[in-house]
Amino acid sequence: MRAMVVRRYGPPEVFEARQVPDPQPKPGEVLIRVKAIGVNFADLLQRMGLYPDTPKPPFVPGLEIAGVVEKVIEGARRGEGGALKAGDAVVALPHFNAYAEWAAVPASVVYRLPAGMPFDDGAAIPANYLTAHHAMFTMGNLQPGDRILIHGAAGGVGIGAVQLARAKGLVIFGTAGPAKQEYLRKIGVHHPIDHEKTDFVEAVLKFAPDGIEMVMDAVGGKSFADSYKCLGPTGRLVVYGFSVAAGPDGKRHWWRSLKAFAQMPRFSPLKLMGQSVSVIGVNLGQIQRRGALLRGELDELFRMYTAGIIKPEIGKTFPLDQAAAAHQYIHDRKNIGKVILSVK
Ligand SMILES: NC(=O)c1ccc[n+]([C@@H]2O[C@H](COP(=O)([O-])OP(=O)(O)OC[C@H]3O[C@@H](n4cnc5c(N)ncnc54)[C@H](OP(=O)(O)O)[C@@H]3O)[C@@H](O)[C@H]2O)c1
Repeated sequence: MRAMVVRRYGPPEVFEARQVPDPQPKPGEVLIRVKAIGVNFADLLQRMGLYPDTPKPPFVPGLEIAGVVEKVIEGARRGEGGALKAGDAVVALPHFNAYAEWAAVPASVVYRLPAGMPFDDGAAIPANYLTAHHAMFTMGNLQPGDRILIHGAAGGVGIGAVQLARAKGLVIFGTAGPAKQEYLRKIGVHHPIDHEKTDFVEAVLKFAPDGIEMVMDAVGGKSFADSYKCLGPTGRLVVYGFSVAAGPDGKRHWWRSLKAFAQMPRFSPLKLMGQSVSVIGVNLGQIQRRGALLRGELDELFRMYTAGIIKPEIGKTFPLDQAAAAHQYIHDRKNIGKVILSVK
């Protein structure tokens, strides 16, 4: 089969289209003919060798696919929506090996798509919307009227978070680059913030001098410290990424990462108690070990999709062979919403 292989850790040019052996599903696994691949920021970090557990090159990156079940190998656990069978349209969250025509994935991380959902939408929902939903409602317990600051509000997770926030009746602050401000207004961000021109702490505290209930921060480094300053009593800082580690050229810069690490705040338990605030870490890879919880949240998200409450924004679609261009597009911060690789 055809796959996009990372030859060595580095910039997007390290991708190479190669013929590799077809995956051989083991007991408990599902063989999927891939139709669409969700490109996640994590894939960029995998390619750069900055993501936990990334194999040594050469390897095939990626963790989110939508496609059609070819076969289910005996021993596959029954999904909670009923047993999977050949011909089912599904989305799956494999651990690497997504940038390929075929994937063998444990049945525990394969989910049947709602009837009529296009593969592109399928590949755009789980990673982004589960992260947002889990942070905001399962861990964060947000209530109507609460105020939330969403960084990267025009990105994949960001748009998911904005749509979920609107559905819950939250007051929304959102940061993005200058070219995305109009889009933020269009999707209902009440307080769009251009992070190149405006200090977001000042912008938030001007509107809410006592601080707000939640900040979603995947930028990392100094941003974690500044986001924390936006919280008031009962405030929750959700840390779920470290985008700052990825420079615009897509190369590894150790000094950049080290500087960002050094700028991270050190949270004191007594200070958290004193201020009555929380810091919440969210890592979808870990939550997958609570399979039923994640499946329940995805069921709810699919219900919201079917009801027209959420709808992923597909920013741009590239053919599988153009994985390098897709990654560069994200490094250039051009994407609004999800980037998809399509497999013909
Ligand atoms: N913990 C988890 O389980 C989990 C799950 C999914 C995603 N994540 C994390 O969430 C973050 C967003 O993921 P995503 O898939 O939504 O990504 P995305 O669609 O590419 O959006 C990320 C946004 O972040 C901003 N950004 C900030 N620093 C950046 C940098 N150095 N390079 C490029 N963009 C940068 C960009 O917006 P502006 O240009 O407008 O600022 C961009 O639109 C990533 O850090 C990712 O690793 C974590």
